[in-house]
Amino acid sequence: MKSTLRTSLTVAAVLFLAPALSTAKTVKVGLVLTFTGGAARFGQQIERGMNLYLKQHGDTFGGHDVEVIKRDSKRPGGDIAKNAVRDLITRDRVDLLTGFVFSPNAIASAPLVTQGKVPMVIMNAATAWIPNLSPYIARVSFTMWQAGMPMGDYAKRELACTTAASGYTDYPPGKDSVAAFKTGFEGAGGKVVDQIPMGGPREVPDFTPFFQRVKDARPDCFYVFVPAGNHAIAVVKAFADLGLAQAGIRLIGPGDINPDTTLQDMGDAAVGLTTIHHYSADYDTKANFDFVTAWKEAYGADTTPDFMGVAGWDGMAAIAHVIKTLDGNIEAEAAMDALRGWKFNSPRGPIEIDAETRDIVHDQHVHVVVRKGDRFGIDVVKTFKAVKDPCKALKMGKCGQ
Ligand code: PHB
Repeated sequence: MKSTLRTSLTVAAVLFLAPALSTAKTVKVGLVLTFTGGAARFGQQIERGMNLYLKQHGDTFGGHDVEVIKRDSKRPGGDIAKNAVRDLITRDRVDLLTGFVFSPNAIASAPLVTQGKVPMVIMNAATAWIPNLSPYIARVSFTMWQAGMPMGDYAKRELACTTAASGYTDYPPGKDSVAAFKTGFEGAGGKVVDQIPMGGPREVPDFTPFFQRVKDARPDCFYVFVPAGNHAIAVVKAFADLGLAQAGIRLIGPGDINPDTTLQDMGDAAVGLTTIHHYSADYDTKANFDFVTAWKEAYGADTTPDFMGVAGWDGMAAIAHVIKTLDGNIEAEAAMDALRGWKFNSPRGPIEIDAETRDIVHDQHVHVVVRKGDRFGIDVVKTFKAVKDPCKALKMGKCGQ
């Protein structure tokens, strides 16, 4: 009798547990980032953000495990990333793709994502029209237009600049950023007098000749986009060395030119720099305090997240949401449906994936670099709430296709 009872209890337990056990899946996430070379710091930021999220929330979502398969895209050229994506889709049979620091790497991979029907969650690549390239791309990072266009408007109306020059790293996000700035600046009544391509994303150029050209033209404002990191440090240094501020020219740009991770290296030369962006480790909110504290605990007191780190954290949250919503059965259309309208309380503030464009909606803040005791930080002097990508809203160029 006893043993019969035990047997039937065991059978009941097996019957009860069987469906749950049999449906537990391992969701394979292909992660394509720059892990080596001059841009390795970007890959490290994003991966650290992802790993912090997994550490804090477990790497099982809705009962399904996450396996991250990493590939090094090395350079911004597109070819290595595209080959990596091809391998991840055909050989590793990943369920999802994520990462992508440089726009050309995301752009080159877009047709494969469409053909392979693998959802892609972009954690950096910021050229506005990238999600237009495939119905299976969503972005948690930012678009160049979200900072560039308000910066143009702000420069004219609030910084009293009537003329501006712009300088940019000559590849898609750079072209996007200066087009956005010009739209905002000239829309408010200013005049862009020069637009200067300043080399490519792979090598940091000597900025001296470009900046000398700007000094000679003497615009009120100089708007610069370069990729965050080594390019940004060199920009702030060249601006100071050539005495552009003393010549009455104000340096402005998207927050890529003064990310948290390079601010201390820029030193006094960065003080007064005015940028617009969606994240700073200095934001005074509980969500951000908790995030920065956990980051320092995980990676060291002298480390800091920047906008790429927060995109890694948020992107992992988005992927976790997809896995839970789809109960581990990742399918591209359903994944995009799960991401459309997804809302999340990010360390950067509230974020949402726009249901129509699959692009990020978030606040933009005007940052002014200040000295804070023995370190440098930013003060937020103005906020634009829930900014959608203006390039798609205005249907500019490829954003209208
Ligand atoms: C990009 O290639 O899209 C990119 C890279 C670095 C940035 C911003 C955009 O800081």
